[in-house]
Amino acid sequence: MFEIESFDIQLETNFIGRNFIYADELSSTNEELLRNKKLYTKSGTVLLAEKQIQGRGRKNRIWHSSKGQNLTFSILLSDEKNLNVNINHVNLLTSVVISNAVENLYQLRSELKWPNDVLIGGKKFAGILTETSVQGNKFELAVIGIGINVNQTVFQGEYNYPPTSLKLELRHEIKRESLLAEILNLFEEDLVTLLKSPDSILNEWRSKCKMIGDKVSVIDGDKIKTGIFDDIDENGFMVLKRDGGFEKIHFGDVSLAL
Ligand code: BTN
Repeated sequence: MFEIESFDIQLETNFIGRNFIYADELSSTNEELLRNKKLYTKSGTVLLAEKQIQGRGRKNRIWHSSKGQNLTFSILLSDEKNLNVNINHVNLLTSVVISNAVENLYQLRSELKWPNDVLIGGKKFAGILTETSVQGNKFELAVIGIGINVNQTVFQGEYNYPPTSLKLELRHEIKRESLLAEILNLFEEDLVTLLKSPDSILNEWRSKCKMIGDKVSVIDGDKIKTGIFDDIDENGFMVLKRDGGFEKIHFGDVSLAL
């Protein structure tokens, strides 16, 4: 059982997570926030579900997560100031935040995989799916969906990357309330930094990505592109060096090439 009071005591934010909604079971926290725009309006709202029936992953995959063991939640951004940032930056920032939260609380190092997976020893324990709603030529809202394998130790079903959890890596149970509070505290802090200096977030992401400089394959649909992962550009897109030139990659699954 998630103890809301314990989480609340550890939350040090001004607006992220101050409107906290706890759900036992629903389809998908992302879908719920996107579908009920009139119901969920407050920027910084966090919706957490113990179980998602249709948890969404990137590229229309399912996000599998056992009930009550992990963290599956979404953060709503709906205010003009925070919607004015580059949404790709928010994506990268979120993976940096998860990595830093885990390092601060458990002294456990993790690495980042483009665009926004968080891995330990080559296994994935967290994924991010950011979805937006647009009105006219402006973002009306952004929903940052975060799935973290916390205390689950058995993984069945299909995973596009080998899964792990914090409990498997640390060999002890994790207090989900402390982890969520730390993530939201850092998220708000880093959002402020992002508004002033996106470069510092991009550089932190680069320092945590161990694939830069490696030969990688990027799979997008039925296309496979192989090259050297040169860098990420100012928008957070991957710069792939191939055939003597540089190509910007906007989507795709990346793995080390043999
Ligand atoms: C991925 O790695 O493919 C992204 C996974 C994102 C999963 C989270 S769980 C909470 C939020 N609600 C969803 O339906 N998906 C995201």
